[in-house]
Amino acid sequence: MEKTILFATSNENKKREVQELLHNQYIVQSLSDLHFEDEIPEPFNTLEENAQYKAAQLYRALNLPCFAEDTGLEVFSLGNAPGVKSARYAGEQRSTEDNISLLLRNLEPHTDRSARFRTVLAYCDGTTSFLFEGIVEGTIGKIKRGTGGFGYDPVFMPMGYDCSFAEMDKATKNKISHRGIAIQKFIKYLQSSK
Ligand code: IMP
Repeated sequence: MEKTILFATSNENKKREVQELLHNQYIVQSLSDLHFEDEIPEPFNTLEENAQYKAAQLYRALNLPCFAEDTGLEVFSLGNAPGVKSARYAGEQRSTEDNISLLLRNLEPHTDRSARFRTVLAYCDGTTSFLFEGIVEGTIGKIKRGTGGFGYDPVFMPMGYDCSFAEMDKATKNKISHRGIAIQKFIKYLQSSK
């Protein structure tokens, strides 16, 4: 029988991806599913601290094992920016359009467009807290390509593929993505700790 697992996110795109990755094993519930309206802040300067903080906050609020993740796009020529500030790169409005436009503008003078997505997933069950990392390397394209995915997907070209994340079918993105890799490590941990 499938078990339920809590994911400390209100981002339905992320929830959908994670549910696809955990299909047949877990039913993923997000903050919206639980009608948990309080926004959990991401106050720290590292993905690790933010992920751990969100998982611990949700555990404290609901007293149920849960996991949280934080993701950043790290662009080499920009000193790994936007990184932990990826959601608010162009301002507090957290606009994907504005974030991508600013990224493309800031990269114009640079020839090296290499980048990576990094996800840190934190699991908290009250007694222990574990971290799992997933990284996918690639480059930032000069124009947006594709309509799938979300966030920076239209400008992220994963290494070894001649397309953006937004042009990829979901299953392929899930298999090679930062979040997919972190979740696979998490699943291994869950299976080994049964
Ligand atoms: P956060 O982890 O929700 O704080 O996301 C940080 C930023 O990275 C947001 O602007 C997201 O839209 C973006 N982001 C997170 N995961 C992905 C992804 O898989 N593809 C593209 N953008 C992403």
